[in-house]
Amino acid sequence: MSINRRNFLNIFLGTGFLGWVGSILYPLISYLIPPKVSEAKIQSVKAGIAADFPSNSGKIIKFGRKPVILIKTNKNKFVALSATCTHLDCIVRYRADTNQILCACHNGLYDLKGRNISGPPPRPLTAFNVNILNEEIIISKPSEMS
Ligand code: FES
Repeated sequence: MSINRRNFLNIFLGTGFLGWVGSILYPLISYLIPPKVSEAKIQSVKAGIAADFPSNSGKIIKFGRKPVILIKTNKNKFVALSATCTHLDCIVRYRADTNQILCACHNGLYDLKGRNISGPPPRPLTAFNVNILNEEIIISKPSEMS
């Protein structure tokens, strides 16, 4: 079988066209269907030195990709809770004046145990474990999340 000039050009241009279509479709499909990347299984994070943390204050700590609010109460007890509001996922903050956790998006309120006490949040915040090892604050996942 011989390939004449017309067939050669048809094959050449057809292959080029398919390559061009593929170069457009591949990134588009990759964008629409991202690869499944699982989050690294983080069991605990170091949150700083206990003595450096002021009493009656709160701080947002990254726990993997999720925020956790670490609170040192006015009785110098540490509490760590999920910082994602259970209503519509806003980030909560500590209110030192009332010793409560506020979600400013829709005025949701939680107590220091994470219980939803007023506003629209439907569920309590998830509590994390806090341990102090050699003055270092270690936040770890509760056993039911592991
Ligand atoms: S998102 Fe927190 S109260 Fe609505």
